[in-house]
Amino acid sequence: MSDKAILEYNGEKYEFPVIKGTEEELAIDIKSLRSASKGLITIDPGYKNTGSCESAITFLDGEKGILRYRGYSIEELAEKADFLEVAYLLIFGELPNSEQLKNFHEDIKEESHIDEEMKKILHGFPKSAHPMGVLSSLTSALIAFNPSSVNVTSEKEMYHAIVRILAKFPVLVAWTMRKKKGLPLDYGDDALGYVENIHKMMFKKPTQDYVKNPIIIDALDKLLILHADHEQNCSTSTVRIVGSSHAGLFASLSAGISALWGPLHGGANQAVLEMLEAIEADGGDTKKYMAKAKDKSDPFRLMGFGHRVYKNFDPRAKIIKVAADEVLADLGINDPILEIAKGLEKEALEDPYFVDRKLYPNVDFYSGIIYRALGIPTEMFTVMFALGRLPGWIAQWREMRLNGEPIGRPRQIYTGENLRPFKKLDDRK
Ligand code: ACO
Repeated sequence: MSDKAILEYNGEKYEFPVIKGTEEELAIDIKSLRSASKGLITIDPGYKNTGSCESAITFLDGEKGILRYRGYSIEELAEKADFLEVAYLLIFGELPNSEQLKNFHEDIKEESHIDEEMKKILHGFPKSAHPMGVLSSLTSALIAFNPSSVNVTSEKEMYHAIVRILAKFPVLVAWTMRKKKGLPLDYGDDALGYVENIHKMMFKKPTQDYVKNPIIIDALDKLLILHADHEQNCSTSTVRIVGSSHAGLFASLSAGISALWGPLHGGANQAVLEMLEAIEADGGDTKKYMAKAKDKSDPFRLMGFGHRVYKNFDPRAKIIKVAADEVLADLGINDPILEIAKGLEKEALEDPYFVDRKLYPNVDFYSGIIYRALGIPTEMFTVMFALGRLPGWIAQWREMRLNGEPIGRPRQIYTGENLRPFKKLDDRK
């Protein structure tokens, strides 16, 4: 296989190295294209063919349905690891030993307080505000209370910033939900595990002690692990590109949360459940909605189906589907929405429209059903996704800064007006 690619244009030949990843992925390195050709650039809206970086964090093969964090398969991690171990793995590159894990958790606990003034900011939002908007704003507001920028050449400072956000972010998530529900803002309990503590902060009733439920904690752990990273998706690319201007970690994360909010990305989990509820309210006629999804004059899309990269089953969807069955059975919940989801999936997998376009269920198709079974309000689903994605965003931001990547600044092909004389106001029609 050649390690060079040649581009011929206007009688000139330009040669570019072909680089290879550890999983044999190939890329034409066009860094020298513009200067060598005196102006030629490539254009690729939506970056369908463009690698923005080299990364050692997550490997995914969309054709084969493979997802690995730092070389470990998602199936094994979801079954055998907990979320904090996976966070450590993603960020620092190796699974922690028991001492490293203990210290990591202790350091996080040390930082889990939030400045009381932050409550004023939270209470400035109406209860009706979407939790993703609130979370993004609060994450950004954290900068004001932690203003010193991180010296990324100092491992110690970098570690401290990472631990701080891993500690404070779950508190903001819990407060966002409690504010919406009109519950008093709660803090965690250092005696609990990382995920247990998140659950406690979200759900503890003011008049009752918190009771642990291993089924719920296991399900949450699994969901958070499955969402923890997904290489250069929209929100992660946002985090990297904002961070590439040397904006701080919290500012970069806040931007990532906004990117995740959209219904074509993380917002799909909320959209899936709303779609399933609408189908149920409309009599459960899945065929009608399949027809709408295929009708090009109808903007309706089957939410939770299709993926930019997976042209096969999203491996996370397979794990979540099994988990949804187990969690509902364990909790003794009989949810008609799950039956509608299974019916839609079966029809879609047999329908030539979906088969030809390689549209399979994605991670969001079943996750909302579990969140609903765990008592998490629909509007909080994308917030839960953000909570899971936090270590991935941090890992990608850290990698980008440690690699000294240049500021992200794409080019364009201008298609507007050529130079024209200014028209005075009275001369304009
Ligand atoms: N329902 C119906 N048709 C669809 C769907 C869908 N969910 N998804 C894609 N298609 C069709 C498109 O209309 C298009 O058809 P055409 O070739 O006849 O024009 C073809 O499949 C390709 O679709 P694109 O939108 O070009 O694919 P792209 O890679 O740009 O988009 C995306 C991927 C955004 C995920 C898309 O499949 C979608 O909108 N899905 C629904 C939203 C969703 O579930 N998003 C979550 C993604 S996972 C995540 O972010 C965590």
